[in-house]
Amino acid sequence: MVGMYMAGRTRETEDRAVAATDAFVSFLRGYIEARRSEPRDDLITELIAAEEAGDKLSTDELISTCILLLNAGHEATVHTIGNGVKTLLQTGTKITRDNAAKCVEEILRFDPALHMFTRWAYEDVEIEGTRFQRGDQVALLLAAANRDPKIWSNPQVFDITREPKPIASFGAGLHFCVGAPLARLELCTALPILFERLPQLRLAQEPQYSNLYHFHGLSRLMVRSP
Ligand code: HEM
Repeated sequence: MVGMYMAGRTRETEDRAVAATDAFVSFLRGYIEARRSEPRDDLITELIAAEEAGDKLSTDELISTCILLLNAGHEATVHTIGNGVKTLLQTGTKITRDNAAKCVEEILRFDPALHMFTRWAYEDVEIEGTRFQRGDQVALLLAAANRDPKIWSNPQVFDITREPKPIASFGAGLHFCVGAPLARLELCTALPILFERLPQLRLAQEPQYSNLYHFHGLSRLMVRSP
C-alpha cells in the first residue's frame, strides 16, 4: 500500500498496492464485524463506538482510519529505529534507559524518517519574503528545519546533550502527528533493549539509504555482534 507514494512507482507496484488494499479492507471488514459482536478493550472497539454513535464516523471512514493508523504508525517508527541504530553505532553513542529520551529526541532531530510533507497554497500569500500563488504546491522540508543554524548550534553534529527544543519531525499545527507520544515511547523502549542485549553491536557494512522520496530510511542495515 505504501508503494503508492514511493519514488519509481510502476504499473506493477500500483497493481500490487491495489490488491493489498483490497485484501486488507476485506480483512478489516471481517475484523470489525467480529469486534462489533464481541467488544474488547481496544482501539478498534472504541472506533466502532464512535461509528455507532451516529454521524461521527462512517464504516468506510473507520476502515481508512485503521489503514492510516497502521501505515503512519508502523513505517515511520521502523525507519526511525533503523536510522537511530545507524547513528548510534556511527557516533559510538551508548544508549541506556536513563539517557534514552535525550538520545531519541536527537535521533528524531538529526535523521527524521519523514523528511518532507507537501501542502497546497489555497490563496496568494507572502511568507517571509517568499510569494506563493493560489494552487502552488509547497514542499515543507522538515529535516532541513531540524538543522536550521538559526535555531540549532552545530546542527550537523549528533549531540545528545542539547537542551530540549521543539523539533519539526512530527510536523506542526492541525496535522501534528497524533502518534508522537507513542512513537517516542516505542523508540525509548526498543533502542535501549537492543543495546542491552547486544552491547557489542557493530556496523558490518556502510549503511545505504533507500531512494524512496517520501520516507528517509535505510534499504538495509548490516550489523554484527561478535
Ligand atoms: C518516529 C515515528 C513517527 C514520525 C517521524 C511521524 C511523523 C509524522 C508527521 C511529520 C506527520 C504530519 C503529516 C503532515 O503534516 O501532513 C504525522 C502525522 C500523523 N501521524 Fe505520525 N509519525 C510517527 C509515528 C506515528 C505513530 C506511531 C502513529 C500512530 C500510531 C502516527 C500516526 C499519525 C497520524 C494518524 C497522522 C495524521 C495526523 C493528521 O493528519 O491530523 N504517527 N506523523
